[in-house]
Amino acid sequence: MQLHRRLQLLILLLSSLAAAAHNITLLLEGNHNFTTFNRYLSLTHLAEDINARTTITVLAVDNVAMADFFSSAHNPSIGTLKNILSLHVLLDYFGARKLHDLADGSALAATLFQASGYAPGSTGVVNITDLQGGKVAFSPKDNCGVLDVYFVKSLKEIPYNISVIQISKILPSVEAEAPTVDPGWMNLTTLMSDHGCKEFADTLSASSEAFSTYKDNVEGGLTVFCPSDGPFQAFRPRFNNLTAADKVSLLEFYGIPIYMSMTMLRSDNGPVNTLATDGSKKFGFTVQNDGQVVTLKTEINIVRISGTIIDQQPLAIYVTDDVLLPWELFNSEASPAPSPSPTLAPAPALAPGPGKAANAPKAAKQLSPPSPLSPADSPAYLPDGDEADQTDDNGADGLAIGSGGLGVVALASILGALSLTL
Ligand SMILES: *[C@@H]1O[C@H](CO)[C@@H](O)[C@H](O)[C@H]1NC(C)=O
Ligand SMILES: *[C@@H]1O[C@H](CO)[C@@H](O)[C@H](O)[C@H]1NC(C)=O
Ligand SMILES: *[C@@H]1O[C@H](CO)[C@@H](O)[C@H](O)[C@H]1NC(C)=O
Ligand SMILES: *[C@@H]1O[C@H](CO)[C@@H](O)[C@H](O)[C@H]1NC(C)=O
Ligand SMILES: *[C@@H]1O[C@H](CO)[C@@H](O)[C@H](O)[C@H]1NC(C)=O
Ligand SMILES: *[C@@H]1O[C@H](CO)[C@@H](O)[C@H](O)[C@H]1NC(C)=O
Repeated sequence: MQLHRRLQLLILLLSSLAAAAHNITLLLEGNHNFTTFNRYLSLTHLAEDINARTTITVLAVDNVAMADFFSSAHNPSIGTLKNILSLHVLLDYFGARKLHDLADGSALAATLFQASGYAPGSTGVVNITDLQGGKVAFSPKDNCGVLDVYFVKSLKEIPYNISVIQISKILPSVEAEAPTVDPGWMNLTTLMSDHGCKEFADTLSASSEAFSTYKDNVEGGLTVFCPSDGPFQAFRPRFNNLTAADKVSLLEFYGIPIYMSMTMLRSDNGPVNTLATDGSKKFGFTVQNDGQVVTLKTEINIVRISGTIIDQQPLAIYVTDDVLLPWELFNSEASPAPSPSPTLAPAPALAPGPGKAANAPKAAKQLSPPSPLSPADSPAYLPDGDEADQTDDNGADGLAIGSGGLGVVALASILGALSLTL
């Protein structure tokens, strides 16, 4: 019965994977001049955003231009790099022909940077100008009309899904490079503290072991369900009563080592492993949804997701209306005669998760490439935590292929299940 359901999922997954239109990593892989650019598309998770969209243009720069950029930039963080590179993804299709045939000799294109929400004002728009003599220049709109980045050649055109073209160097943009527009998600605790989870955030940052587990998992994908302040405050006496090791487990119990958008939570129900899951210590819970309402359930209690703090690859943080209690720590409080949980016992995790898979050391390698089945392959792109807010004409595609991301998670789940049952 369970196996049957998993096979159904597998079929669903295979069909959704087949729908994926292109793979930017693969498109650039064959060309040795673009290995640096390609690597950073993956590290910043922009590759998944690109794969999830159609009618786009990627402005690629070769290794020489990337090296020039790095020698002048001051050790940009991954967040800053993501902003800069997302300025190089135009949300429209420009093949070589169209570039040389612009109405009025010039056009403006919105970019992924603009769509990310990190671009202030109208920055994140790229001006394309067809200069006399067949030269085409690219410039961020906020660059005071300086035109010194040029079209070099077309690398790959799949009309009208994706066009990959080489430009002479990285587009200059003060806004994209500004360290101040680093994604706030780099600072987990500030994000939580500012949005109703201060009690939890303070407790988490006071536990160096649990906190580093969270930090180590951000790059590879992390979803946090933080209990809101009132309930966590009320819970504190019971928290203080726990042993040191159990405190760490409890704190880690509120994180899962994969990125799950709200869309995924609403459509993909089932048991999940958490950061606290470690060998025989299950520390899982079950995600359920009723329409738009998502609840988390253990054998002890059920809590509801009451808010979204951030929902953008690779990080999602949700607020819960109460403190979810793990069975492992609070089973003595459960009403008598609880048979071992039917939901948690044989259930596979949604995904093993990069940080904790197979009892791997907790520290995730910061720069290791995402593993093929990691949730990093999930391409959902949700700038505002709500895909309905997407106004560009790629919104529908983003959504459709978002379910491919779920498929990947499902596949991980199936593999997990098979390895468990075999
Ligand atoms: C373009 O993308 C669509 C799905 O978004 C896909 O069905 C189609 O095959 C793609 N076209 C090409 C030429 O790859
Ligand atoms: C895209 O191609 C790369 C390189 O071949 C591969 O590692 C990756 O798994 C592919 N991604 C998807 C979503 O198929
Ligand atoms: C790589 O770059 C060099 C130097 O710019 C150029 O001569 C060569 O044609 C490029 N190779 C490819 C495959 O684009
Ligand atoms: C693009 O920039 C050029 C040079 O500054 C300018 O002449 C042109 O009007 C701009 N195009 C658009 C559509 O704003
Ligand atoms: C996070 O923010 C807090 C408070 O603003 C600050 O003290 C801390 O240094 C920040 N941590 C990181 C890693 O930026
Ligand atoms: C703390 O633990 C003790 C012993 O297990 C128990 O009797 C007591 O009720 C607990 N206190 C709280 C606040 O949970």
